Amino acid sequence: MAQRKRILSGMRPTGRLHLGHVVGALSNWTKLQDEYDCFYFVADWHALMSEQGRPEVIRESTLKNVADWLACGVDPERSVLFVQSHVRAHLELYMALSCVTPIAWLERCPTYKEALREFENSEKDVRNYAFLGYPCLQAADILLYRAEAVPVGDDQVPHLELTREIARRYNTIFGELFPEPQAVLTKVPRLAGLDGRKMSKSYDNCIHLTDDAKAVAKRVMTMFTDPKRVKRSDVGHPDECNVCAYWKTFAPDRADEVAEKCRSAAWGCTDCKKALAAMLSDEILAPIQKARAKWPPAKVAEVLAVGTERAREFAEATIEKVKTAVGLWRGGSS
Ligand code: TRP
Ligand code: SF4
Repeated sequence: MAQRKRILSGMRPTGRLHLGHVVGALSNWTKLQDEYDCFYFVADWHALMSEQGRPEVIRESTLKNVADWLACGVDPERSVLFVQSHVRAHLELYMALSCVTPIAWLERCPTYKEALREFENSEKDVRNYAFLGYPCLQAADILLYRAEAVPVGDDQVPHLELTREIARRYNTIFGELFPEPQAVLTKVPRLAGLDGRKMSKSYDNCIHLTDDAKAVAKRVMTMFTDPKRVKRSDVGHPDECNVCAYWKTFAPDRADEVAEKCRSAAWGCTDCKKALAAMLSDEILAPIQKARAKWPPAKVAEVLAVGTERAREFAEATIEKVKTAVGLWRGGSS
């Protein structure tokens, strides 16, 4: 049988997961398991770059996030799940790659420039050496497993491009060590937060995977709707309404009906939102919450221990080749 291609992706443990993670990453991660050998990891060193001084955030998020991955259908029998900081070779390759990465490449990275702007007024300080090197560590994550494809959101495309540039440079200098990874973009458009901005915990506009029916109903009621629909009798424009976007994403089979009832003012926005909240709780979140109950911390830790062993085997093989290629003394007297 032909060998399957290898995929790798990571998520930073910076808090509870929300529906944006399901749409943007996890639904893709679970599907890709059918076609690829998948490596999925907790990017805890990456989290440290922005969560410095909040050790409890990283500590608590790690096992909880992986429990959510498992509840969403990431299958530990088929995929390798591990924690970045448990495989030391990530930092070793990071160092090796840093030596061929011009500072200018990192400084002009759009995600870096954006982070500097965004964090200007926040308590998080990203003006440090490690944060500039963020994409270099990400390149190490990917190249360590010689991954051919990387499922990411469109915000991560610059990092993938940098990874490819670094891989090319390394290969030119030291011989063909790394394949150039391709980005696998999520097909579904990004899910906006409840207020229409990017879904993010810093905007407090998320529906979390742990939210119960009451919490979901309360949150959904705060959603912005078609601004032109002021009175109940006004006809609506579902294509301009975030509530309808949620219907399209989570219950595509009912989206046409919702749009029709909106356009004809057959139902009001409150009806529409109540139905959306019930659908999200009953059909999307309840199954995840039920599955999650089967993953207590001790079981998750076991999965990660097994995954870490397998990840290390791969990582060790790569880092040994790299160390030899660059000329580090590997022992012996010749
Ligand atoms: N930077 C990614 C994010 O914030 C997380 C990440 C770290 C990652 N290393 C990776 C994603 C390697 C894909 C591959 O979402
Ligand atoms: Fe949006 Fe639904 Fe109101 Fe139409 S009825 S404007 S889709 S909330």
